[in-house]
Amino acid sequence: MGFMLAAAGSAVGLGNIWKFPYMAGEMGGSAFVLTYLICMFVIGLPILVAEWLIGRRGQKNPIHTMEDVAKAEGRSKNWRWVGIIGVLGSFLILSFYSVIGGWATDYIVIAAKGSFVGMNGNGTSQLFENFLGSVSHLFIWHTVFMFATAFIVALGVGAGLERSCKIMMPGLGLLLIGLVVYAALVSGPAFEQAFKFLFTPNWSAITGKAVLAALGHAFFSLSLGMGIMMAYGSYLGKDVNLISTARTVVILDVIVAILSGMAIFPLVFANGLQPGEGAGLIFVTLPIAFGNMAGGTILGVLFFIFLTFAALTSSISLLEPTVELLEEKTRLSRVSATVVSSVVIWALGIACLLSFNEWKQVTLFGKNIFDLLDYLTSKLMLPLTGLGTIVFAGWMMNQQLIREELHLGPALFALWKFLCRIVIPIAVVAIMIYGFMPQK
Ligand code: PFF
Repeated sequence: MGFMLAAAGSAVGLGNIWKFPYMAGEMGGSAFVLTYLICMFVIGLPILVAEWLIGRRGQKNPIHTMEDVAKAEGRSKNWRWVGIIGVLGSFLILSFYSVIGGWATDYIVIAAKGSFVGMNGNGTSQLFENFLGSVSHLFIWHTVFMFATAFIVALGVGAGLERSCKIMMPGLGLLLIGLVVYAALVSGPAFEQAFKFLFTPNWSAITGKAVLAALGHAFFSLSLGMGIMMAYGSYLGKDVNLISTARTVVILDVIVAILSGMAIFPLVFANGLQPGEGAGLIFVTLPIAFGNMAGGTILGVLFFIFLTFAALTSSISLLEPTVELLEEKTRLSRVSATVVSSVVIWALGIACLLSFNEWKQVTLFGKNIFDLLDYLTSKLMLPLTGLGTIVFAGWMMNQQLIREELHLGPALFALWKFLCRIVIPIAVVAIMIYGFMPQK
């Protein structure tokens, strides 16, 4: 149970509620959503199982786990690079994750002031634009969020936080369901339009970019490719059924993302907003609902509190690998290691938050700092480490032992091998090539 909470706590976060809808909006809706769903179950689920499997064997941090398990299987020590790139990925992701976590935290206060009352799409867009323009605001809340993350990690009270999520997570789920029902009731034809936008297959809209984004998001959303799930795997008892546990986590993760999409897009269409609004999508849409429903101020406050908690359980899992690595490789204590890593990540986060205002024009390869970090991690590093993990599990590890460990019958075992050895590696490589090709 504790393990499930930790794993689900890491998986469910801003990725589901903030990132999924805005990416779906930017990438043309269903083409993204349907590929994302396929990626979650066909690619994400087996990689999640593989990470846990490797982590349970290794019983260490991702880098040493990869090294030890590779050695035990008679393979090269260089497999540790999967762990190294993973830790680097978690470090980079946290820098922008903390900025958005700061937005969610600040929106608790903004909601509490009753700022959304009676607002329409223009109002909430303006509010968000002003918010983005205020560097000091973004700076303060990014700092608060990063501080909270560091505080929890330094004191090792992550387990306590996860316990409080027993209340927060179901609360978030219920509120999301409530928002979907609200959207269905008030937005009339826009609800149907949203449903079509998200789910009616429109394969002609599929582009290499959208497919790569969907793959990268599946990794991001399940916290894969960063060695985080691998590290969690070391806490798994021998008797835990990895496949059914992974299935539960994937389903939960998908449900939260879909609910978020179904709460948001009816509001987008009913209020004449743009689906491709970008990173501010939830901050522009949900306040319209909170501003116009009975009890909306309280519900808005609660929603952003729950969202902040969900973000925190993910951000602590993002900070943990870097801290552990520093603790192990240097003489720093846990507290000092946390302070050092947090300060560096926080500083990088400042560069990210400036890319929403003062440094909007500062670009590298045509992308601002926030976009660049997101691109580098979700589209390059995570797919690469995910690929490394699955190739390792499929080709480098003793398959008979895995079969016993996963309690697979002959048919499922054949499927496991086919997926790990052939389907997933080919799919990931093909998607990466397709995604990086010049787009029409
Ligand atoms: N999975 C988290 C989310 O969807 O918000 C984000 C995340 C957490 C990504 C931990 C990666 C990670 F290692």
